[in-house]
Order: sequence, then C-alpha cells, then structure tokens
Amino acid sequence: MADFQKAHKQVAIEAALKAGAYIKRNVGKHLSVRYKGEINVVTHVDKNAERIIVERIKKSFPCHAILAEEKNYAKVQSDFKWIIDPLDGTTNFLHGFPFFCVSVALFHKEKPLFGVVYDPEKNELFTGECGKGAYLNRKRIGVSKIRELKKSMLVTGFAYNVKSARNNNIENFTRFLKASQAVRRAGSAALDLCYVACGRFDGFWELYLNPWDMAAGALILEEAGGKITQFDGSPFTVYDKELLASNSKLHSQMIRVLQR
Ligand code: IPD
Ligand code: CA
Ligand code: CA
Repeated sequence: MADFQKAHKQVAIEAALKAGAYIKRNVGKHLSVRYKGEINVVTHVDKNAERIIVERIKKSFPCHAILAEEKNYAKVQSDFKWIIDPLDGTTNFLHGFPFFCVSVALFHKEKPLFGVVYDPEKNELFTGECGKGAYLNRKRIGVSKIRELKKSMLVTGFAYNVKSARNNNIENFTRFLKASQAVRRAGSAALDLCYVACGRFDGFWELYLNPWDMAAGALILEEAGGKITQFDGSPFTVYDKELLASNSKLHSQMIRVLQR
C-alpha cells in the first residue's frame, strides 16, 4: 500500500513540474488566446499544460477518472479521481504578472489523498498528503499564529461573472478591508490557499470557484493546520460555491464579517 501511494505522489509531482516548466518556457512568448467569456481567457499554454499532465497520469494510471478544466474526460469513471487546473492564474500569466501555478490533486471516493501546487516562477512546490502534513519544497509548513483580524493580511478573488453576478463579492471585500490590516487580490486561488498554508496570508475567501481551483490547495491548507468551511461555517467540499479558509484562529471572526 505504501509503495502504491508513493507512485501516485511521484506521478502528481512529476506531472506538475513538467507542466510548470512548459509554462515557464512560454512566459513572454506569443500566446494564442480564446475568450470563454467577457473577461475569461484561455491560451494554448493552458491546453498544452493540461495535455502534459493528463498524458503523464494516463501513462501510469489509465483507468483513473480525470476532472480537468480545459477538456471533458468524463468517459472514464473510477473511485480514483485526479482534479487538475493546468494553469491557475491565466489572467496573470497573460499579462506577465508572475503569480500563477499548476494544481494537481488525487481523490479516492471523493476523499483527498494528495495535492500538489507548483509555482514555476518561484520554483515553489507545495504538497499535502492526507494525515501526513504539508510541505513547501520538502520543508514542513504551518499556518500563521495571528489571532486578531485587525492584524491579519487576507486575500480574495473575484469570479469571471463579477460584472453580472448579484453576489459579486465587492461588499465582502469592503467589509474585510475595514476589519483587517490589508486585503490582496492576487489572482490564483490555488496559490492563495497555499499562501495561507505557509503563513504568508492569514485568511482567504472567494465565491464561485471550481473544484480544480481548490482541490489541491484545500488539502495543503488543512494539512498545514488551517480550516476550510463555507461562509456560514458549514462543512466544505470542492464542489461548493463558497470557500472560507483561514489559519483557523481567525475563522469565527471571518464568519462574523461574512454574516453581517
Ligand atoms: C481563476 C483564479 C482566480 C480566481 C478565479 C479563477 P484561472 O482561475 O484562480 O484567482 O479569482 O475565480 O477562475 O481561470 O486562472 O484558472
Ligand atoms: Ca483556476
Ligand atoms: Ca486554469
């Protein structure tokens, strides 16, 4: 069983590193861009990065299910499911803002086993394994010790429907600005979660994320001692549309701000 799990981990890390190296090679190069919505773009790099990851997984585990952002692989069903965001932070990548990553997670019967988030610009590899902790470049990480919201640095994001959605997160943003020391909008949900996991941020909330944005980062955060729920404190799954993540000490204070 141990060797079996090691093989999964190795494939996840190999796939994320390979896709990350490919993305880095394409920074600043000409990109072919397609609009999925008014402000939601996909580039040929997102698609090729996904192909690199999926090919690596299929080589070792051809019968596993895959849920990925850019293509539908639903024909194969299995208790093992890989959840993949080949490039989280596409808008940043498009503009040359160096905050984007590859996110790969493996679930078994909807339970997370392993997650990898790789930032190719900083060469930072975040990993988390169920029950075994979270790591940044193989060094154990943990959440921050901040206990007061007014001393915290938080992060959020806005979904691509921000111009039309009634619940566009702008009111929450204003409230947290007033309640915390600072709020950032960094542009990659997977990295946002990892930054809470290693104490660079103290809390993160966002609406309308997809499973591939959250799957790896959520496990990494929980393994680092953080907490994740929906906005009202109820249990979270990667299929939910609200995510509230924190260093756990700030969690109830953040729930109170969101419930006002
Ligand atoms: C996006 C990023 C962003 C978040 C958006 C996501 P993408 O993913 O994670 O931070 O605010 O909601 O869709 O499109 O760059 O993979
Ligand atoms: Ca994403
Ligand atoms: Ca993406």
